[in-house]
Amino acid sequence: MKDQVTALAAFEEEIQSCQHCALGAMRTRFVFGVGDPGADLVFVGEAPGLEEDRQGEPFVGRAGKLLDRILAAIELSRQQVYICNILKCRPPDNRDPLASEVEQCLPYLKEQFRIIKPKLIVALGRVAAKTLLGVEESLKNMRQQVYNYEGVEMRVTYHTAALLRNPRLKAAAWEDFQIIRDRYRELAGLPPERKQEQAGSPGE
Ligand code: URA
Repeated sequence: MKDQVTALAAFEEEIQSCQHCALGAMRTRFVFGVGDPGADLVFVGEAPGLEEDRQGEPFVGRAGKLLDRILAAIELSRQQVYICNILKCRPPDNRDPLASEVEQCLPYLKEQFRIIKPKLIVALGRVAAKTLLGVEESLKNMRQQVYNYEGVEMRVTYHTAALLRNPRLKAAAWEDFQIIRDRYRELAGLPPERKQEQAGSPGE
């Protein structure tokens, strides 16, 4: 664990001045990732937004606050998992990442995975899922499946920004997060969650 802390900090130091793509010159802050460097569960979003670019931390805007609430509902905090993005710098106007940007940035994420050694990776949203899995399926289909990302179990669920735009997706997302909780606990060797099931989704 100590090695992972040191290795991840050293890696952040090494890449935080990256100028490999044009986003480097546009950013306020480089957004490396946050959480436990030895986490069993890693969430991967798309790219920093306005607040993340300002604060240098992923998922701190409205979508991030919702992610925090969902994590709390499965008895996890952002300190116990690891949260990062496909891209480390904010694309202008939050447009989708370009293939050339992903090509430059993806090796950074892979190195983070190599250091952290998660047991379960969760892609938040279509862009993260499509980038990691190289598939063009609908999110609806992908969320029903279990994938393997370079030897690590991977699941897909809705991005919390999509849940804010379309609250009708929250019930399905809550189902996914309960599965993620159970599978995480199983893979981490933790006892199953006490069944005092919450009545509804935590997103309200
Ligand atoms: N959306 C993302 O995909 N990542 C963030 O860090 C914030 C919003």
